[in-house]
Amino acid sequence: MNLKELLHKESFTREEIISLLKLQKGEEIRELINRADEVRREYCGEEVHLRGIIEFSNYCTEDCLYCGLRAGNLKLQRYRMSPEEIIETAKQISNLGIFTIVLQSGEDSYYDKDLIAYIIYSIKQYSDVAITLSIGEREFDEYRIWKLAGADRYLLKHETANPKLYSIYHNKQKLEDRIKHLEFLKSLGYQIGSGNIVGLPMQTEEDIADDILLCSKLDLDMAAFGPFIPAPNTPYRRRKAGNVMLTLKTMAVARIVLKNVHIPATTALATIDEAGRIKGLTSGANVIMPDFTPMKYRQYYEIYPNRNTIKDDPSAVKALLTMQLESIGRKISSGKGDSLKLIFGNDKISHYPY
Ligand code: 5AD
Repeated sequence: MNLKELLHKESFTREEIISLLKLQKGEEIRELINRADEVRREYCGEEVHLRGIIEFSNYCTEDCLYCGLRAGNLKLQRYRMSPEEIIETAKQISNLGIFTIVLQSGEDSYYDKDLIAYIIYSIKQYSDVAITLSIGEREFDEYRIWKLAGADRYLLKHETANPKLYSIYHNKQKLEDRIKHLEFLKSLGYQIGSGNIVGLPMQTEEDIADDILLCSKLDLDMAAFGPFIPAPNTPYRRRKAGNVMLTLKTMAVARIVLKNVHIPATTALATIDEAGRIKGLTSGANVIMPDFTPMKYRQYYEIYPNRNTIKDDPSAVKALLTMQLESIGRKISSGKGDSLKLIFGNDKISHYPY
């Protein structure tokens, strides 16, 4: 089978995915990326969905070897936003015409079941937005209450689908638990997002293929693939960063294999490459997640250093993105950007009746 035929297949074996990830010739990589762009157009159209992130706490009880927020990082100044600050920031985001709010933090049980439910419920009182929680592994009963309070989506990256690597990177957590949490969240009616980090120490292309296959098995609504960036004061501070091209190839292969999922051009990609957002959006991505954390806290949410969004001015970011998107023939969506699976079933966008 030649490359063109392979890129047009409906379903893919593990070996085929690995061979696509291992493409090295410039011309072949271009063909892969062009095909991903075509599949993206077919399933997502030209609209780019914005998700406004509020990083409301950088406290974390976990000790992931790659992450700057790990509990063992005693050098990081910690902060927590009050519920009122979080609700007010969410209001500002929706006033800008951005209709998904992502509430993200380290694993921080200070925000207990009731407090998170209160924040979700209050945001929903003021604005017609979708709420995504990205606050790590919590109790199953908490997920249930937060869904009732109005949460719509849950973002919980699997980070790596290789169970051995997972247990090396993470202090106490296990891959099988993470998968159970994702499955339970889906069964509650959450739209679920997951994904990996590309270029973690010891990870191979075979592992990345398994990441994409796990995303397929979990029937995700959103799949995110961002490059590893070594963070100061972590055990992996001197490791090599993930590669931009391998990240773009991963996104492109994921688009071709997974088809009707949202794929973000991640902040990590925009951090290691000035043009990362645009490169991502032309390699299969259809989502951007601008940072709306109040400026006074932003520098302390140091998952990794020099985050590109650290300078993003909340009032200017939408205009800037509109301009950047115009240059590649794309536009900002005016909707919430719900799961493509909810709207279209397994059909393509051209079959959508409106
Ligand atoms: N480099 C890149 N991504 C990282 N994350 C955590 N640490 C790093 C790092 N050093 C990612 C994880 C997490 C998300 C919020 O950031 O995938 O889920």
